[in-house]
Amino acid sequence: MLTIALSKGRLADQAIELLEKAGYDCTAAKEKSRKLILEDEKQGLRFILAKPADVPTYVEYGAADIGVVGKDTLLEEGRQLYEVIDLGFGKCRMCVCGPKELKGKLDTIPNKRVSTKYPNITRAYFEDYKRESVEIIKLHGSIELAPLIGLSDVIVDIVETGRTLFENGLDILDTVAEISARVVVNKVSMKMKASEIKPMIEALKKQVDIMNNEKKEA
Ligand code: PRP
Repeated sequence: MLTIALSKGRLADQAIELLEKAGYDCTAAKEKSRKLILEDEKQGLRFILAKPADVPTYVEYGAADIGVVGKDTLLEEGRQLYEVIDLGFGKCRMCVCGPKELKGKLDTIPNKRVSTKYPNITRAYFEDYKRESVEIIKLHGSIELAPLIGLSDVIVDIVETGRTLFENGLDILDTVAEISARVVVNKVSMKMKASEIKPMIEALKKQVDIMNNEKKEA
């Protein structure tokens, strides 16, 4: 039996679609209910629906063998697991953003306050990469509000279409990382359940290649 941890929400729907294209029947996973474990005994598959930030935890501890999760969550959680496929969907960017007047002037503000949902990514970017110490303020959502209301100078957050930034007079000041959905695998499962996991990885990779080629041709 393989246990697959899906990130509740849009990523789960796209992951299910991809698994189906790769030849796995996901009828169980598509059941409209509030069940958190959806099992397909015949196929030997069990799906669990987890909060995105918890998917790497389930996979690291082996409660799930495989997970589908955003690179943002992986970078923030820093868990011990194998990242095996970039699925190419759920694309966005992790950026430093702030008032558009600060464009090109990010390095000139001393002792910055930075609001974010991603304190570890923010610390790694400013302290390890930029060699700059900053005050990090952890928020849980609507991060763009912080510089508008004077809570912080800048933010580190996800930018997808850029609409939230634009409509609030903010802009991208630097890009921290390119984000997309990834397949991760528990390190022990990769060896112990290789006969089930390897074919799944291969089938998914094949589908991702087809999708990427279709995008190129479009
Ligand atoms: C995310 C992110 C930005 C927004 C970016 O927020 O934190 O606020 O989407 O998308 P855009 O570039 O297409 O405008 P989400 O909707 O997940 O809610 P949150 O603000 O509560 O985190």
